[in-house]
Amino acid sequence: MPDSSLNLEQSIKSLRDKAEASAGSIASVDDLEKYRIEFLARKGSVGQLFEELKSVPPELKPNYGKQLNELRAFVDSLHQSAKEKIESAASGEKKFIDLTLPGRVPAMGTRHPITQTLEDITAIFTAMGFGTVDGPEIEDDYHNFEALNFPPNHPARDMQDTFFIEDDILLRTHTSPVQIRVMKERRPPVRVIMPGRVYRNEAISARSYCLFHQVEGLYVDRNVSFAELKGTLVAFAREFYGNNLKYKFRPSFFPFTEPSLEMDITCFLCSGKGCRVCKHSGWLEVLGAGMVHPNVLQNVGYDPEEFTGFAFGIGVERTTLLRHNISDIRLLFENDIRFLKQF
Ligand code: DAH
Repeated sequence: MPDSSLNLEQSIKSLRDKAEASAGSIASVDDLEKYRIEFLARKGSVGQLFEELKSVPPELKPNYGKQLNELRAFVDSLHQSAKEKIESAASGEKKFIDLTLPGRVPAMGTRHPITQTLEDITAIFTAMGFGTVDGPEIEDDYHNFEALNFPPNHPARDMQDTFFIEDDILLRTHTSPVQIRVMKERRPPVRVIMPGRVYRNEAISARSYCLFHQVEGLYVDRNVSFAELKGTLVAFAREFYGNNLKYKFRPSFFPFTEPSLEMDITCFLCSGKGCRVCKHSGWLEVLGAGMVHPNVLQNVGYDPEEFTGFAFGIGVERTTLLRHNISDIRLLFENDIRFLKQF
């Protein structure tokens, strides 16, 4: 029966084409079911061809059997993918995605204004050849006061309201004790800045807080001069506050420096005319400094006849408030995102 075999071969081919073409027009669940009944159900057209296989000569059966199995698998897969398409279209209607909506931008953090000021000050002194050193916030009386030439019961200690932990242990009231630690560890030349947090038991107000930051500086070598101190401070101030800055040095007193000075710059707010912030003086104090006292050099084992040095202490909060025209120091510690986001 070569003829009927030939017919079967052709029927397989044409059914394959037909099934493929009509799968393309399945557009609904109803179409899908019609398609299944037409091709895949027991009495469907694929099934009918399997019926015809019965009349094929036995030696040809394996070949046509294989072709028919392939046909059924093919039509099955057409039906399956049409089904998936319709199902996903149906669920897509429920979770409608509006591609025109703006994307969700992850909220980026910003560096705290204090951190920014610390980093900017550090960068300026790094460029001038200063290294950076850390020290402990919990100090002893020796490093915070005694070695810095504050004698016991000396009234100079009253300048700083100290938080004591034990008789002899305290929260450092300034970064100057790090000078002592550095000098005890190294021989001159020493040229470092020492940024960090300090604590004072002061009434909290718009101008003062119980903790704040300082950047301490120290340069000790042979023949370090007062002129170099002034030159260094002016170079820093110009770099930090800008070239048009007006500044002045005033004599001052600190137990650990002799002579001592304070540096003022023209008030930002009133350009020197006098306002509430500068207490109508036209000037703002930005740092204290001086030549390291010979007693301090002696306390750390440096010979004051051989070495001289200068030191300075910059108030970081003060500097930050001025820079950004912020009126209340407490804003820097409250961590209100609405405030911090602006920097
Ligand atoms: N330690 C001083 C303070 O807390 C600031 C200071 C003044 C530091 C003069 C210095 C200095 O190194 O030379 O008020």
